[in-house]
Amino acid sequence: MKRIYLIGYMGVGKSTIGKRLSKLLNLSFIDLDLFIESKYHKSISEIFEEKGEGGFREIEKKSLQEVSEIEDVIIATGGGTPCFFDNMELMNETGKTVYVKAEPSDLAAQLQISKRKRPLIANKTADSIFPFITNHLNEREPFYNRADIIFNVNKLDSITELNNTVNGIAQELNKLTK
Ligand code: S3P
Repeated sequence: MKRIYLIGYMGVGKSTIGKRLSKLLNLSFIDLDLFIESKYHKSISEIFEEKGEGGFREIEKKSLQEVSEIEDVIIATGGGTPCFFDNMELMNETGKTVYVKAEPSDLAAQLQISKRKRPLIANKTADSIFPFITNHLNEREPFYNRADIIFNVNKLDSITELNNTVNGIAQELNKLTK
């Protein structure tokens, strides 16, 4: 039985990588945010608006517990998932964890064009997004760094780059004996 969690900052490409990796490893794929949106019939932004971040984190924790029982699956988590409650322990106990890591400058470039559906950064200006990400990532890395595998990625701006990333993660997973 295989269960693999992809963790890492917003915009790093967890979902894109996860979908492709799931095909390569013949596993099913779950995006935790999409799982939440279809379960609650609301977008992540609507949940933040209605229940605040605290309410969202409760829902996220419950949903993570549900998906942590599914077998033979790759789960792309939200950027904050590992950083609340005992979510990181749960993931490390129930599967293999992969921290998909990128430089703040690459994350800022990606998030500047895709920030609208992400309530934590939706209102950041072009000037404030980079310092915000740098600080936020510093706060979050102690959680992310507890992953079984830390995998550095560049901007995933070509199919070749994406394929290299996916193949590289698959190789690292192979080396793990747990
Ligand atoms: C969040 C990341 C988002 C989503 C929510 C909060 C975060 O997921 O869960 O907006 O706290 O970093 P992505 O990492 O898929 O953008």
